[in-house]
Amino acid sequence: MIKTYSEKLLARIWVIIGAVSVRVKIMGIVIIGTLMLSVTLALQMRELVTSLMEQQLESRGISITRDLAARATDDILVNDLYSLRQLLLETQANNPDVVYAFVLDPKGNILAHTFGEGFPAGLQNANPVETNQHHRTLLFDSGQGLVWDIGVPIFDGHAGTARVGLSESVITKNVLMLTSQVLITTVVVLAIGLAAAAFLIFVLSRPITELVVATRAVAKGDFAPRVRRWADDEIGELADAFNTMTAELAHSDEIRREREDLRRQLLQGVIATQEDERRRIARELHDSTAQNLTSLMVGLKNLNTLCDNSQLHVQAQDLRAITGQVLDDVHNIAFQLRPTALDDLGLPAAIERLVHEWQKRHQIPADSVVHLGDQRLPENVETALFRIIQEALTNVARHAEARNVSVLVERRANEVVAVVEDDGKGLELADLARGRLGVAGMRERAELLGGKMTIESSTSSGTSLFIQIPIPRIEGESV
Ligand SMILES: Nc1ncnc2c1ncn2[C@@H]1O[C@H](COP(=O)(O)OP(=O)(O)OP(=O)(O)O)[C@@H](O)[C@H]1O
Ligand SMILES: [Mg+2]
Repeated sequence: MIKTYSEKLLARIWVIIGAVSVRVKIMGIVIIGTLMLSVTLALQMRELVTSLMEQQLESRGISITRDLAARATDDILVNDLYSLRQLLLETQANNPDVVYAFVLDPKGNILAHTFGEGFPAGLQNANPVETNQHHRTLLFDSGQGLVWDIGVPIFDGHAGTARVGLSESVITKNVLMLTSQVLITTVVVLAIGLAAAAFLIFVLSRPITELVVATRAVAKGDFAPRVRRWADDEIGELADAFNTMTAELAHSDEIRREREDLRRQLLQGVIATQEDERRRIARELHDSTAQNLTSLMVGLKNLNTLCDNSQLHVQAQDLRAITGQVLDDVHNIAFQLRPTALDDLGLPAAIERLVHEWQKRHQIPADSVVHLGDQRLPENVETALFRIIQEALTNVARHAEARNVSVLVERRANEVVAVVEDDGKGLELADLARGRLGVAGMRERAELLGGKMTIESSTSSGTSLFIQIPIPRIEGESV
């Protein structure tokens, strides 16, 4: 979509406005609003007052000049120039804004004036009044401010013209006073506005800040914080809604935790029962089935000594070979189910045997290093580590196409760490998603004991599994 220039400008302004805090926005609105209002008010009032006062000044000037013209008639007619000058000076003295006054004869010559020394050049003819005019007004800049020059014909122009100049300085002074008054009012209103805005910000931001802090805590999984309902307005309703939401979340979280604990306990129970069952069957196979098979082998061997039949000898030999194979299989099954070494000798022996058997069966070089010290690990940790390593090796054989495998198990300060590393083709997240229970089961076993399992893999360097399971610190052991 093509944006017009004004749309782009609006978007840009919105980005700038949006980037500042609410505090700055509210303060900005108050300052800009107050300033705009007072500037507009000051300009309008200045214009109105100036035009009103100018009208007033002009009409006052006209009446002063008319009065002067009426009173000057007699002095002009008797040619009493001294009295005429006195009249002009008196007019000026009675009206402070009259800057000058003078009288011209019908030909335009100066009869009398109030200027002490020389009469300003050009002023005489600056505002020529026709005989048929009642008055004539001219506004000019005297160099010391604006002056309203008003001319009124004397005796319909037959006796000359009376001219009076009125200074606009009164108007300028008054307008200046008015402007400063508006300015002072603006400052006062602005101060009140800013104080009100600061209060509004405080009232609005306090509950919002509290909500932000509480929301961050909720995001981290802490559902305990509650916010205060400061007022019965929309923000108060928001606080109530937030508190209801966190209470609901806390309740759901509690139920989830309870279910999780239950699931964990059930799973631990299932695993323990499964291990017990496996242990029982393995023992049975080892102590009963394997013993019987061994007796069978001994019996078959004894057959050789009991009779001389060579045919029977061959058959007995074959049967011994088969029985030996079955005995191996039984041992193998018993070992897969639960190696007696795990219960009798401990994890290092069981892992060594597991790796050795695995290597023999799959013809892939494998080595194992186990450093667990003298003290045995808790039974459930030993079982979990054995099963995890067993499944990891099964996966390497089934999926990795590896040339070498290594297993390391090490006891550290307060945890036991196991690493199963292969140099196979590696795996991707998608593979794990496709997987069934192997990797998920390994992870579950580690997590049930408060540990974790991480996988690092690449197509160039194969797959490494890291398993960490916490264990209680051994008495007297240094960290
Ligand atoms: N060492 C490994 N090297 C390469 N790929 C592997 C390795 N271990 C696991 N994988 C991949 O991860 C997938 C998931 O493994 P997982 O053990 O969960 O399932 P599985 O072995 O396919 O089936 P099962 O549930 O019987 O164990 C496998 O299908 C395989 O693609
Ligand atoms: Mg598997």
